[in-house]
Amino acid sequence: MTILPVRTVPDPVLRTQSDPVRPDQLGTDRIRRLVQDMFDTMDDVKGVGLAAPQIGVDLKIFTFDVEGQRGYVINPEITNTGEKIDEPGEGCLSVPGLFYEPPRYEHSSVTGIDAEGQPVSYSGEGLTARCLQHETDHLEGKLFVDRLVGEQRREARRRMSAPEFGTQTTQTHQQRSKTVGTSFGG
Ligand code: NI
Repeated sequence: MTILPVRTVPDPVLRTQSDPVRPDQLGTDRIRRLVQDMFDTMDDVKGVGLAAPQIGVDLKIFTFDVEGQRGYVINPEITNTGEKIDEPGEGCLSVPGLFYEPPRYEHSSVTGIDAEGQPVSYSGEGLTARCLQHETDHLEGKLFVDRLVGEQRREARRRMSAPEFGTQTTQTHQQRSKTVGTSFGG
């Protein structure tokens, strides 16, 4: 069991477009171990999702555990349908202390492969859809605060540029388990 440190803003890896996992990397212990470390880390911080860049690896992989669905996807392709809605709220392990309501599509389906190269697919609405959109965004170097609009966007920018923002990290990790019941941190 390996729990890795979660990278937080402004770490440049969070702003990097991740590379697809190559066919020759599938079925290797390195990829299996990476996926297991991601589950261990996600569970430890009680996140509902974790993307590889959040542990400093720029590969297209994310894990999730939301509303009774648990899994991981390598090289995900996402399809979104429905209206964009604001709720429920959302946070991110890599953007400690901020919780907002970025508009997200109501329904999402993700297809990809597992560590052995077998096809996988997951879909859901509401919180699950939000999680799938949030995690696939991470693999494009995009954070949930980038999806905010209006006053929430302005407020998030203001708070992230404040000098005390960087010092919140440790505190937030300790508090997170209390907050993920009503929103989520991925
Ligand atoms: Ni996140």
